[in-house]
Amino acid sequence: GIKIVTIGGGSSYTPELVEGFIKRYDELPVKELWLVDIEEGQEKLEIVGHLAKRMVKKAEVDMNIYLSLDRRAALKDADFVTTQFRVGQLDAREKDELIPLKYGVIGQETNGPGGMFKGLRTIPVIFDIIKDCQELCPDAWIVSFTNPSGMNAEAVFRHTNWKKFIGLCNGPVNMIKDIEKILGAKSEDQVNVKIGGINHMIYALDIEYNGHNANKELIEKMIHAGTEESLKNIVDIPWSAEFLRSYGFLGIGYLRYYLQKQQMLEHCQEDAKKHQCRAQVVKKVEKELFEKYKDENLDMKPKELEQRGGAYYSDAACNLISSLYNNKGDIQVVDTLNQGAISNLPDDVVVEVSSVITKDGPKPIPVGDLPIQTVGLIQQLKAFEILTTDVAVSGNYDDALVTMTINPLVQSEMIAKKILDEMLEAHKQYLPQF
Ligand code: NAD
Ligand code: G6P
Ligand code: MN
Ligand code: MN
Repeated sequence: GIKIVTIGGGSSYTPELVEGFIKRYDELPVKELWLVDIEEGQEKLEIVGHLAKRMVKKAEVDMNIYLSLDRRAALKDADFVTTQFRVGQLDAREKDELIPLKYGVIGQETNGPGGMFKGLRTIPVIFDIIKDCQELCPDAWIVSFTNPSGMNAEAVFRHTNWKKFIGLCNGPVNMIKDIEKILGAKSEDQVNVKIGGINHMIYALDIEYNGHNANKELIEKMIHAGTEESLKNIVDIPWSAEFLRSYGFLGIGYLRYYLQKQQMLEHCQEDAKKHQCRAQVVKKVEKELFEKYKDENLDMKPKELEQRGGAYYSDAACNLISSLYNNKGDIQVVDTLNQGAISNLPDDVVVEVSSVITKDGPKPIPVGDLPIQTVGLIQQLKAFEILTTDVAVSGNYDDALVTMTINPLVQSEMIAKKILDEMLEAHKQYLPQF
């Protein structure tokens, strides 16, 4: 039987993961699911853990759910380790979103200064988990959802010798679903999409619909039908027809933070004034969710979970684990080493790209050059990610200043310094490297 250990088990997303394992039980017989959390998360862990137990009982599958605050005890002999933890909880996210705004810079969970600080808090914990895995489950695959997902994967490949690490995001799954819907496809088989870029900055590079290229058709249909942002955490500001036609590629919603920077900033500022930055909204949604989870009669994932930006992430996680376990050789979008797949990015950096998944891990599919209108932004963000991983290790202040300054949302040394100083102070209990 398979043993899975989920770090950050108290997450409100856990019921979706459990549902995913139940649905796939025949091909992926998970006998043990260990949900691991820390003291601050104990109450959530217990509530969501009991719901998980009710779900498994109702489904009549032979899956045992264990709840634990002892990561090392849980990790022993794990086959797969998944991560979905949030260092500093939602209070830290609120600071990531609100502090940059004081200085006129977008505050966001995985972009700009907020993304940098989420990385600085998270990477040391990822490294601790890897140290434990090296000792307790050296053959396990680590499938990591924890944000900033791409940056964390970059840190692992750049600064550790652990190889079996795969970063994941629900963005690509959503993008492919959107494309099928916009094209009007009747089944998933009619559409083949090759995706490339880096985490939270991906593009549908090659869309095949009924065997022919449909990139232009998609753009025209987007213009005529109007698009709707499917990631619930990103505000839906439309693109002009002129822009879409010339840009030529569907990008993930996060592109708006860079190419609709002014409107996005104004929107963040309005939300903050109303005490409705995303972290504050999520706090409320989470409270309501956990009230539901406490209901002893509930034995399935509640509909309200779809209000979260990461909705449907379990599809990505469970499909990936199943393909690794069953050596499927199907195509999924993951964060892994480039190895030449994107020809105008270095081979040894982490990219998010369509990959063939076998028991040996992901093999990225070559997509050639990223289009010229997209590549500059991606290179700049990748440099920012790489430098953040270095700072996460060194705790070097001067390097941190350069890293924040070169982020495309900042671009001012003076402003970077103010934000950096305030955020270093605000988050200091979670920054052991400084
Ligand atoms: P959450 O705030 O519910 O946190 C999940 C749990 O992590 C909490 O119970 C918390 O106590 C626990 N935790 C904190 N520090 C920990 C540690 N050191 N070890 C173990 N557990 C710890 O968060 P959430 O909204 O469920 O999101 C979890 C993570 O997943 C975040 O990093 C979020 O950004 C990320 N996420 C990623 C995607 C994606 O596309 N990759 C989608 C959704 C969420
Ligand atoms: C998705 C992303 C995640 C992101 C999350 C936020 O857009 O792929 O990486 O962090 O949603 O969702 P939330 O509901 O927490 O704002
Ligand atoms: Mn994501
Ligand atoms: Mn809003």
